[in-house]
Amino acid sequence: MSKLVRKQIKEGFLPQIEDIDISNYDVIFVGSPVWNFSMSLPMKAFLKNNNFKNKTIIPFFTYSGGAKRSKIAKEIEKIANAKDIKKPLFMFENGIFLVKEQIIKWLNNI
Ligand SMILES: Cc1cc2nc3c(=O)[nH]c(=O)nc-3n(C[C@H](O)[C@H](O)[C@H](O)COP(=O)(O)O)c2cc1C
Repeated sequence: MSKLVRKQIKEGFLPQIEDIDISNYDVIFVGSPVWNFSMSLPMKAFLKNNNFKNKTIIPFFTYSGGAKRSKIAKEIEKIANAKDIKKPLFMFENGIFLVKEQIIKWLNNI
């Protein structure tokens, strides 16, 4: 799977995803697992397919090993061209008890 995703990233492939009408929303939480230290390709497709010009994006991720956090933040900025993009939350997949506190703290600061 990881090998396939690496190939898809290299080739600039983006999966077809369902159309979602975001026009009625000003603030949009966009979440994804980390894939190859970056955002997943369905998330990338979602950011590319929609217009975030007057919208705020609140990104969040789950991961199991590591992520290039500042690179991901910059990539979201570049692709989405949103009005505002909040600092992403990264949640370790096995840290469910820690994650609850982490989410509350994060929500209180955005
Ligand atoms: C193709 C693929 C690539 C992945 N690459 C990474 C990675 O680079 N770093 C990491 O921490 N986790 C990586 N993972 C693990 C997922 O991020 C992790 O399993 C996921 O966040 C857990 O949430 P889920 O159960 O909703 O998938 C990868 C998973 C897949 C399927």
